[in-house]
Amino acid sequence: MFSISRSDLGPNFTFGTATAAYQIEGGQTDGRGTCIWDTFAATPGNVKHRHDGSIATDHYNRWPADLDLIRDGGFDAYRFSLAWPRLIPEGTGAINQAGLDFYDRLIDGMLERGLKPFATLYHWDLPSALMDRGGWMNRDIAGWFADYAALVGNRFGDRLHATATINEPWCVAFLSHFLGIHAPGYRDLRAAARAMHHVLLAHGTAIDALRGEGTKNLGIVLNLEKTEPASDRPEDLAAENIGDALFNRWYLGGVFKGAYPEELTTALAPWLPEGFQRDMDVVSRPLDWLGINYYTRGIYAGDPEAGLFGGRRISGELEKSDLGWEIYPKGLEDLLVRVGREYTKVPLYVTETGMSETDDTRRVKFYDDHLRAVANAQAQGADVRGFFAWSLLDNYEWAEGYTSRFGIVHVDYETQVRTPKASYRAFQGMLHNTR
Ligand code: FCB
Repeated sequence: MFSISRSDLGPNFTFGTATAAYQIEGGQTDGRGTCIWDTFAATPGNVKHRHDGSIATDHYNRWPADLDLIRDGGFDAYRFSLAWPRLIPEGTGAINQAGLDFYDRLIDGMLERGLKPFATLYHWDLPSALMDRGGWMNRDIAGWFADYAALVGNRFGDRLHATATINEPWCVAFLSHFLGIHAPGYRDLRAAARAMHHVLLAHGTAIDALRGEGTKNLGIVLNLEKTEPASDRPEDLAAENIGDALFNRWYLGGVFKGAYPEELTTALAPWLPEGFQRDMDVVSRPLDWLGINYYTRGIYAGDPEAGLFGGRRISGELEKSDLGWEIYPKGLEDLLVRVGREYTKVPLYVTETGMSETDDTRRVKFYDDHLRAVANAQAQGADVRGFFAWSLLDNYEWAEGYTSRFGIVHVDYETQVRTPKASYRAFQGMLHNTR
């Protein structure tokens, strides 16, 4: 059970669960094109056990029962993503009717169950054909993505409660093009710098395209990290500053102030796309809401030799999830307050938080503590309107494959049987009959 109750978060607070297409759908049939995760996963060394999303949790076939679980848990909303390669198999051009039909049924299924659809256009499944043309490194992606956004707006926009363009641009750009941990697995500073700008430019062109189709309530989902210096030595403080710029301020500053942090535009100057400054109006189109995904804090230490721009992220001493991520609810509280004070007055939603863990009593406490952190942030003036648990189901956890379990519902991957965990019951206990 949770110690916190629904009323602690104020009236009209939205509770939901979140998933992403590649992590749950499977269903690589009916005309769906391939994406960068299909081939990244097939390449030895990238993903544990070379697991891929070809079956995942078979949500493509089992979605009605999955939506029932969300409704029966007492949740108000469902955050899901649409697979670009299911709708436009080559990324541009021909549209796949079976893909349109699938999301038609899924969205109608949410509405029939009284669930508010929170859609995300891009949760990392870039069509392979666009990767062949340079993917996020190619400026043309701003047009490709806008065309895809217009299609979604046109076909589904009037039934969506809220729409986000991109999930976690830091991951799309930096984790995937500099750290090489996610598809396409590049480790290249120029590739990363270009992706860092193009992902936000494409966000802006997609906002224009969605508005052009009359789609309302538009936002973006940023993953933010509470950065802290390893000590108050000047080199650690400098490392923390650059870590904060790379993880948080690049995206917050670009989207809400139309300006990137100066220390990074200087450091990345040789690699950034020529004339990026002219795009900042598009990057910073007005939004209606902001989604924040939060998992942990980042501690930064000075390291002139091995670190990027003199800094390195190190591991801390707090209690950790089974992926080794420190558990730090106060970081969520601080970030929500900071974003509300320094960047934007639009409503904030915690669009993801959760932990990888098999001992579910720890997960119950994790959610209880993070909900409390949201209430504390509200008390300090942060306008937080909703909270989405990551994730509804155990699912394909990217480079971790199926070895990491984030679900509030257990999935047996042999039989696809779903079994609610204690954390699901805790949400149900809190939300029951309050919708
Ligand atoms: C986030 C991703 C989500 C999931 C969680 C654990 O970065 O958005 O797909 O993998 O982490």
